[in-house]
Amino acid sequence: EKAEIGLIGLGTMGAALASNIADNGFRVAVWNRTTEVTRKFHADSDEEDLAEQIVPTESLEDLVAAVAEPRAIILMVPAGDPVDQQIAALRPLLGPDDMIIDAGNANFHDTNRRARDAGDLPYLGIGVSGGEEGARFGPSIMGGGKREYWDRVAHILRAIAADHQGEACATWMGEEGAGHFVKAVHNGIEYADMQMIAEVYGMMRDGLGMDAAAIGDIFGRWNDGVLQSYLIEISGKVAKAVDPESGQPMLEVIVDAAGQKGTGRWTAIEAQHLAAPIPAIEAAVVARNLSSRRDERAAGEALFGPAPERIAKDLPMEMLEGALIAGKILCYAQGFAMISAASKQFGWDLPLPEIAKVWRAGCIIRSTMLDDMAWALGEDPNRNLMFAGYFADHLKTHHRALRRVVSLAARNGIAMPALASGLAYFDTMRTARGTANMIQGQRDFFGAHGFERFDGRSGQHGPWGRG
Ligand code: 6PG
Repeated sequence: EKAEIGLIGLGTMGAALASNIADNGFRVAVWNRTTEVTRKFHADSDEEDLAEQIVPTESLEDLVAAVAEPRAIILMVPAGDPVDQQIAALRPLLGPDDMIIDAGNANFHDTNRRARDAGDLPYLGIGVSGGEEGARFGPSIMGGGKREYWDRVAHILRAIAADHQGEACATWMGEEGAGHFVKAVHNGIEYADMQMIAEVYGMMRDGLGMDAAAIGDIFGRWNDGVLQSYLIEISGKVAKAVDPESGQPMLEVIVDAAGQKGTGRWTAIEAQHLAAPIPAIEAAVVARNLSSRRDERAAGEALFGPAPERIAKDLPMEMLEGALIAGKILCYAQGFAMISAASKQFGWDLPLPEIAKVWRAGCIIRSTMLDDMAWALGEDPNRNLMFAGYFADHLKTHHRALRRVVSLAARNGIAMPALASGLAYFDTMRTARGTANMIQGQRDFFGAHGFERFDGRSGQHGPWGRG
């Protein structure tokens, strides 16, 4: 009996996805460059009673032969060149109706190109979020490519996806790289959300002198409120975990230098191309880059001394929680506004409410707030979320907390780049008369660029008498 789908690449995510497919009653043929990996995966799958649903193959030809026509074969190989190489090796073995599905974290520009290069040959790029556990038990899936290709495999993708109150978290976003684009913004939001949580952790640790377990308790408590989310939940667990070897909190053992595979950076770069303001996400990317400069930071501390005063005793936990609520809303508002800008720029019709819905379960940024975001975007997909009733109310209540926390951090020498940029975004967006008149004056002064006047006339120059 032939398999309904094939999968290439049995790394952590590929293996989990293959098991998930099998677990949902589909026969899946698998292949990995190293045959040993394929054999071990198949042998191990016996423990989960999945071995019968999984067809291990030892060559690409065997894989192709094992899958029923018209074929669908998922690639789960590292993003970048490996995907192009795999496509080049696989395509000649496939028929004109056979489909390749890239389920890795591809740069959406690459997916655009691959979809175009494929011409009439079916190609899909799908963003898959949820880490290993999500891939195994129900990820959030953002699809991109021709709608008819998506429809051909949607029954499998919906079956393996996370479920949110009876709705599968697997949605078609649009043509070509639309799915991978939405996944990239997801990751940008992920970076900013993680960074804001880390900043609040920093305030508790350095400003309030709290120990890791106490910080874990606070995150645990917040997870019962407005901030309920996967990232808050795991942050609490990370803070409470103890190193079995040293008996110290894990957070005292883990080096303070964050890695990144690049998806957050792509989002920041793309936002600049789109002139879409996502300062909280950019700040989070910058913070990761700075985090890895440990020697320089140590030299900086030796040169400038530690932070001025490290006491923020009078800061109530509700204030920190409020700051995080406001920061989180602003970061998501930026992310969705960027999606809206891209939708227009690329001629995609990205379904914003559906995007909020597909993120409600399975993915890393899943949270209760996304329910309300889905609702608010349903009312008006192009309105910045900070202006939507529920979120505007939260901001009216909590922007003072954000202001207090950010200013206290500044006074205590605690860096809060993402929360501070969230606050600056908020203040910019609620200031009807800004300061770009000065910029325009400067531009006209040195470059005769002209400016618009409040009396409506344009093409004017100032009486600078340059020289
Ligand atoms: C997800 C994650 C996942 C992964 C990325 C980003 O949605 O499941 O975003 O795709 O964690 O590799 O991680 P870094 O850029 O932090 O390495």
